Amino acid sequence: MLYLKQLEPAAAETDVLVVLVCEDVELNDHPLLSSMVARIQKLSEFKGAKGDEIVLYDPAGTKARRALLVGLGPAAKLDREALRSAAGRVVKGALKKKLKDISFIIPSLYPPGIEIETLVEAMMEGAGLANHRFDHYKTKKDRIYLKRIDFLVPPDTAKVLKKLPAKVTAICQNSLLARDWVNLPSNDKLPAAFAKNIADHARKAGLQVTILGKKELQKKKCGAILAVSAASQNAPAMVVLSYAPKGAKQTVALVGKGVTFDSGGMNLKTTKTLNMMKIDMAGAAAVAAALMTVAKLKPKLKVIGVLPLCENMLSGSAIRSGDIIRTHSGKTVEIGNTDAEGRLILADAMSYAIARFKPAAVIDVATLTGACVTALGEGIAGLFSNDDNLVEMILQSSEKTHERCWRMPLPEDYKDLLKSDLADINNMPKSPRGAAISAALFLSEFVGETPWAHIDIAGTAYRKNGSDYCGPGATGFGVRLLCDLINRIE
Ligand code: BES
Ligand code: MN
Ligand code: ZN
Repeated sequence: MLYLKQLEPAAAETDVLVVLVCEDVELNDHPLLSSMVARIQKLSEFKGAKGDEIVLYDPAGTKARRALLVGLGPAAKLDREALRSAAGRVVKGALKKKLKDISFIIPSLYPPGIEIETLVEAMMEGAGLANHRFDHYKTKKDRIYLKRIDFLVPPDTAKVLKKLPAKVTAICQNSLLARDWVNLPSNDKLPAAFAKNIADHARKAGLQVTILGKKELQKKKCGAILAVSAASQNAPAMVVLSYAPKGAKQTVALVGKGVTFDSGGMNLKTTKTLNMMKIDMAGAAAVAAALMTVAKLKPKLKVIGVLPLCENMLSGSAIRSGDIIRTHSGKTVEIGNTDAEGRLILADAMSYAIARFKPAAVIDVATLTGACVTALGEGIAGLFSNDDNLVEMILQSSEKTHERCWRMPLPEDYKDLLKSDLADINNMPKSPRGAAISAALFLSEFVGETPWAHIDIAGTAYRKNGSDYCGPGATGFGVRLLCDLINRIE
């Protein structure tokens, strides 16, 4: 979908030639472009301020049908995210206008402080991620997606950046796959069907796939997953994805919460939150999509994805308040609230992943708590960890990808909130205050000494109104973050 091409503005036959303009520095030294920009900047309506746009039809000296000048504001404020957003807005506009193809001119005089690779990568990401909308269930599709998005660069740059398009295309396509999965309604991603859907993609990508069904989960004593899924007519499944290159020295395990619908169970949710709960598998989607990307980008370490998939429903066979269950780890849990189900299935999945694969680190991604949304909103995920090195790397990846995370504390004394009179631990904290923290502390009881990080994406997994490079709905949050992190661990 994304291509690098040699910059020949006069020869480019395209629907739109996109020219970036800063309000304070020149970005293009090609005479055709610099004179075009200079002439337009004399007009009152376009100075290159952020958000400024102007269209020229049949621009002189080119074969393009349009030139679109896009203002970026002052050069000093340009960063990866501003470039992603600008490229994303352009692509969204092109889809609305039903344009067929589009060519971004990559500035030859790139702004101070930004390297050419950074610039192209960020623009490719924004453009690639914006070229999509979830219209699977619309009989009449009102968008035609761009088959190709070209990035025009000087010849020597094209050589240096040769590998970039394939890499960014893989990352974008898998982020879009994660979005599609999350946007799917729960009736079309029942645990077994979703497991198969993931497995089909994963096998095509070259990953090893194992699906543990209900019987295998019973054999492996995954009592928590079985308890959460007990009310559902639809059996649970646990998908294990493995990328195991020869000579790998260490293993990282990624675990994703995969509740395909969270009714709350007997502690039934109310309408307002209930109709969002198809997204409760966004962690599993992000982990699965990250593994598909890993299979393509081929890092040197072993990466395992563990995806516990089930529904949290209610019926005569549901778990009850006060029930006590035994988890895979052997620890018993008193069910104080059937709506705190995510931590239960993650407990099984993480202790299974650690026992089976002995990973050097475990990272779980989960739409775990409403409290995290209250604390950090829709733009920032909660990061909890027992390992400062891991946190450092995740925060670097977070900064680079703009999948923002904020580290939250894991205070030892708060563990008192999870004490149970009868079992080893209660899944419901005694106080609703600090509920994102008590949820993370619950998880910490199931990872032992393994370096571990938990990313609570309850707020960031979904955006009702979309953003510059995301349609309304699922964001695919976590895919780019995890892929970048794997690169760093390698
Ligand atoms: N899936 C929800 C968390 C959630 C909330 C995800 C909003 C996405 C958006 C989770 O299973 C849940 O119900 N958590 C409870 C925990 C409580 C019972 C301790 C919550 O946050 O209210
Ligand atoms: Mn719940
Ligand atoms: Zn949930």
